[in-house]
Amino acid sequence: MSYNISITKTQSSKLDQLDFDNIPLGTSFTDHMFICEYKDGQWQNPRIEPLRPIPTHPAAMALHYGQAIFEGMKAYKNAEGTPLLFRPEHNASRLNKSAERMGMPTVPEELFVDGLKELVALDHAWIPPQQGSALYLRPFMYATEAFIGMRAATSYNFVIMASPSGPYFSKHIRLWAEKQFIRAAEGGTGEAKAAGNYAAAIRPTELAKAKGYDQVLWLDAAEHKYIQEVGTMNIFFKINGNFITPELDGSVLHGITRLSVIELLKSMGYQVIERKITIDEIREASRNGTLEEAFGTGTAVGIAYIKEIGLENETIHVSEESPVAVEVNDTLNAIKIGKIDDRFSWMTEVQSQLA
Ligand code: COI
Repeated sequence: MSYNISITKTQSSKLDQLDFDNIPLGTSFTDHMFICEYKDGQWQNPRIEPLRPIPTHPAAMALHYGQAIFEGMKAYKNAEGTPLLFRPEHNASRLNKSAERMGMPTVPEELFVDGLKELVALDHAWIPPQQGSALYLRPFMYATEAFIGMRAATSYNFVIMASPSGPYFSKHIRLWAEKQFIRAAEGGTGEAKAAGNYAAAIRPTELAKAKGYDQVLWLDAAEHKYIQEVGTMNIFFKINGNFITPELDGSVLHGITRLSVIELLKSMGYQVIERKITIDEIREASRNGTLEEAFGTGTAVGIAYIKEIGLENETIHVSEESPVAVEVNDTLNAIKIGKIDDRFSWMTEVQSQLA
């Protein structure tokens, strides 16, 4: 089924105010947004409108009980100027997994992807052409029903907004291995992309930044020894020639960049092992010289090279060089902008809808 998405264009584009050479993530927004409402058991009135504040009742349940989930993805442009989306169907299915965990309605994949395509087609001039830059897309859903009480809301908004962004990290980063606070426990909401997971991470992240670190490395809730993920990324280690990444045990986000990097590394002939991995094992590999590389993967960051992991009384040194991660990053980026063959069929062109 194809959705009939009505379009109202802005009368006053802000595009000419954008400095394409200086766009920190999340600070600029395009002219339009996609929006539709869920009520009476169905999604209604999908449309694109000029970006605007959305009125919110003070009792909107998202504000009180946290029924709020989101996705992160990016649109790129190839040499001909055709916008390209990276594996959007995976974001649709992850949003729906998050929705199920949080007691929210799912969004039909076609509505999700059609909404994205229409928005990207309309605001395609906002896709930055600079290397490492992209149009960040933020689909999200939140409970709008005005009600005080503990149950699933009956009305929701599903919105997609778009935000041009430059590269996230340009240097090797330092992580703080967190042993006081936790991100996710068994049976919790760790693998959902739920706003509350990020809320709980804000204070520990600020404390880590005050110590001079870039992001938090999360450890398991029970023993503080198994590595889960990093602030906004999944994590990979190269030890003795093989890649290891924490298994998806319910506490770890199903990263789409993570999945793609696993596929890419395997195609390059590397062994990639998804298993439990302890911080002690990483410390030991650093000491005995077998820890060769470490890097994070995420939509916003792309691939972030890790040089150090800080613990209470010591520092685990990784490496100032990450040759395989650099190769993976370059290959991924080249696929995303259509510079090399999309041999995995990851990219979706936004063409027919071009406004
Ligand atoms: C993303 O990588 O897209 C995220 O959602 C992380 C965000 C907090 C920047």
